Amino acid sequence: EQTFAPVVPADEILNVPHRGASAYAPEHTIVSYELGQQMSGDYVEIDLQMTKDGELIAMHDDTLERTTGESGDVSAYTLAEIKQMDAGSWFNDTFPSLAQDYYEQLTIPTLEELFLHFGTGVRYYIEIKSPRENDGIEEKLLQMMDAHNISSKDVLIQSFSVRSLKNVQRLNEDISLVQLLRYDQKARMTKNELEAYKQYAIGIGANYEQLHEEYVHQVRQNGLELHAYTVNKKEDMHRLLDWGVTGIFTNYPDRLREVLEQR
Ligand code: G3P
Ligand code: CA
Repeated sequence: EQTFAPVVPADEILNVPHRGASAYAPEHTIVSYELGQQMSGDYVEIDLQMTKDGELIAMHDDTLERTTGESGDVSAYTLAEIKQMDAGSWFNDTFPSLAQDYYEQLTIPTLEELFLHFGTGVRYYIEIKSPRENDGIEEKLLQMMDAHNISSKDVLIQSFSVRSLKNVQRLNEDISLVQLLRYDQKARMTKNELEAYKQYAIGIGANYEQLHEEYVHQVRQNGLELHAYTVNKKEDMHRLLDWGVTGIFTNYPDRLREVLEQR
């Protein structure tokens, strides 16, 4: 049996409601974010996209089909057009046992609406999506934070794009950054990679399926946080927490709350 150096304890284990409490309500709507907060989520987790007219909205996909039924790219539509779209019917159709009539009236929120709605009393974990296509998205995000007095200490910014995260760092070195990674095979990281990530990021966000104890310890011993996505089963949550991850993205923040309370 392999032995590892003791796990580095976390200051805080983060319960991150993935796209809000998205198992229960349409993802990336004010309803799902509210539910995430009610279920003891530590963050409002937002995937950020940009409209044709340069407005920032909360949406995971680059295209509109899955969550609105409309065709084409987000970037091909103005905010006014996007605001006409129905962000909830897809959820009712997909999950009839959880359907609510009022979900059909839900709209896609802008980042500004979310800052106005949740204000400075919550923390935000914001993913910059498709930064190549969404040129200037980092500047707009930081301007919006400034305009609504959102403190950099209450924000984590995540991206799969190294370039985008470094862009944020160049614009505001006070914001904490998380490098997202997706492993197709057993997770591994070289010393050089670790050193490179440590230069700008406070942590790593990685798909949980390929994680293992040695990797978790390696990342933690190098002073980086490790947030696993997207973990929906309690047994997986327990295992990852035993290994020492410091945060979990989940569609079920209520389950993670129960797991954390049991430990
Ligand atoms: O942001 C962490 C995780 O959500 C990354 O995957 O595709 O769900 O945005 P995705
Ligand atoms: Ca995400």
